[in-house]
Amino acid sequence: MIPFYIETYGCQMNVSDSQVVARILSDNGYEPCYRWEDARIVLINTCSIRENAEKRVLFRLDFFARIKRKDPQLKVGVLGCMATRLRDSLLNHPAVDCVAGPDNYRLLPGMLGQPSLRPACMNVELSASETYADIRPLRNISSGVTTFVTIMRGCNNMCAYCVVPYVRGRERSRDPRSILEEVKNLVDSGYREVTLLGQNVDSYLWQPQDGSDTVSFSRLLEQVALVSPRLRVRFTTSHPKDMQDDVLLTMARYSNICRHIHLPVQSGSNRILQKMNRKYTRESYLERIARIREILPGCAISSDMIAGFCSETEEDHAMTLSLMEAVHYDQAFMFQYSQRPGTLAARHYPDDIPEEVKTRRLAEVIALQNRLSLQSNRADVGKVFEVLAEGVSKRSSRAFFGRTTTNKVCVFPRENRAIGDYVRVLVKSCTAATLKGEIINENP
Ligand code: SAH
Ligand code: SF4
Ligand code: F3S
Repeated sequence: MIPFYIETYGCQMNVSDSQVVARILSDNGYEPCYRWEDARIVLINTCSIRENAEKRVLFRLDFFARIKRKDPQLKVGVLGCMATRLRDSLLNHPAVDCVAGPDNYRLLPGMLGQPSLRPACMNVELSASETYADIRPLRNISSGVTTFVTIMRGCNNMCAYCVVPYVRGRERSRDPRSILEEVKNLVDSGYREVTLLGQNVDSYLWQPQDGSDTVSFSRLLEQVALVSPRLRVRFTTSHPKDMQDDVLLTMARYSNICRHIHLPVQSGSNRILQKMNRKYTRESYLERIARIREILPGCAISSDMIAGFCSETEEDHAMTLSLMEAVHYDQAFMFQYSQRPGTLAARHYPDDIPEEVKTRRLAEVIALQNRLSLQSNRADVGKVFEVLAEGVSKRSSRAFFGRTTTNKVCVFPRENRAIGDYVRVLVKSCTAATLKGEIINENP
């Protein structure tokens, strides 16, 4: 058995894909290991979303080029989004023996099995139908409590700044039967939480060949929630232009669907939203938020923000800040705009916001969100939450960390509980990032 090691960059989709790759290789004479030093094959699953994400990987490849000078038999493969985007230029990198795009992982055993990988080999064609539905991801069993389940691949939304449609291809939904089977297997092997993954889960649609009923996202969500009342269900990402009441009403019906919606807004200015090709307005977004609050009181809402998109003025930026205040996000991921070659924005709009202005605006967005997160967490002090114990706290071996249904990280003394238990935690204090509490033993 040849040992392989996978290093994963980028989003949850890549984490999930690395598990698919691990299964494919394990079924074909390779065995996973958990340190590159033990491996004969190192695979790097890459991300292209921002220039920095690519720089990190290129830096890592330079590192492996140096390792290979001493150990020429070590094979290095590049997987994921940079494989599709950079193709030949990766092939010419001294570290790289093999390049496989997100839809080509079934070919890996054949590619890696060749006696000589010089010249390096490459498969980066995108597929309209590949979903790896029949492949059971090989999960790293170190947690065994929460995991991701990919329900669709690719993206058809041409957000002007975004490279994902180019590197991941057309949107396609995975057969719901294979999703449910995977979720049932996970429950049987002790998992307590799944996060359903897609770039835009609201456009999930399964259209059976045999003419039976189509399956929408809300229907799929309901079926997954019904697998077990002990299984928590999360999902990401929702798109403000596509999220409808049916998803909110399904969430309201099942208490095991977590009370958290990630609904990235990107900007609070209508002019910028239009330039970004997001296909909603500030007003329609705020209406969606109002519906969430109405149907799901107490539901946490998080977002992604981009600071310094093409032509963004101080007024546009102020609109983003005021929208964040209006929604009062519980959490957010915040980025400064990074131009990606080939995207609509790169082709049509100059990247005209000076670096220092982008940086300053991003700092303002982050400072505001820190304040909002802290306020949101302070409002939870004194309340009791059901928390799923996910693992041992990094700070203390006597404490566990887990999350509330609202996706807030909570740390508490473990007492006699085990990882995977649901516990009732009284929140005693907080920071902007974490709740701290104690287990309470209530009489039912
Ligand atoms: N499909 C999801 C996530 C896409 S990538 C969605 O539609 O929200 C995650 C986040 O990265 C995006 O929400 C966006 O905020 C950010 N992002 C994408 N492209 C970017 C770019 N070129 N520069 C800076 N941030 C970007
Ligand atoms: Fe990118 Fe937009 Fe698709 Fe999200 S919905 S992956 S931001 S193109
Ligand atoms: Fe994800 Fe990065 Fe690709 S965010 S889809 S790994 S470009």
